[in-house]
Amino acid sequence: MNNESNDPGSPPKAGTGGMKIAIINGPNLNLLGTRETDIYGNMPFESFLDELTQKFPAVEFSYYQSNIEGELINALHLVGFEYDGIILNPAGYTHTSIAIGDAIAAIKTPVIEVHISNVHAREDFRKLSHVSGKSVGSIFGLGLKGYELAVEWFLNR
Ligand code: DQA
Repeated sequence: MNNESNDPGSPPKAGTGGMKIAIINGPNLNLLGTRETDIYGNMPFESFLDELTQKFPAVEFSYYQSNIEGELINALHLVGFEYDGIILNPAGYTHTSIAIGDAIAAIKTPVIEVHISNVHAREDFRKLSHVSGKSVGSIFGLGLKGYELAVEWFLNR
């Protein structure tokens, strides 16, 4: 998937109505499936997304991934006044980006922060998140299942 076809401002790819959920992934998550598979597993995100859209046919998903901080902020602004929920994995920017935290605070749509790995069981620098305090909740360490649990939370809230 390229970013243009997954621009969060473009119509969602799946779903027939109902809840609109945007999934936004940060840097290096385009390499899921080959990247540090002992930590992140060997499933490309696109394959997981196919499963997710099949599992929740009533949800309209949009998906966006960028390696660039400002593009992630633009993506949050685009969906953040229209969608019902945002599932955000800011990846490495979690630990460095005050601006992404500010963007979450500036938008209306609630954000769930998801990390595939258990960031609290890794290096100390991963324990700091500029995103957790601005999000409705955080899920970490449950692999890709964390995204699915976040969808369920939005559906059941
Ligand atoms: C990550 C954890 C971050 O610390 C790391 O920089 C990532 C992925 C995760 O999903 O586990 O790129 O967000």
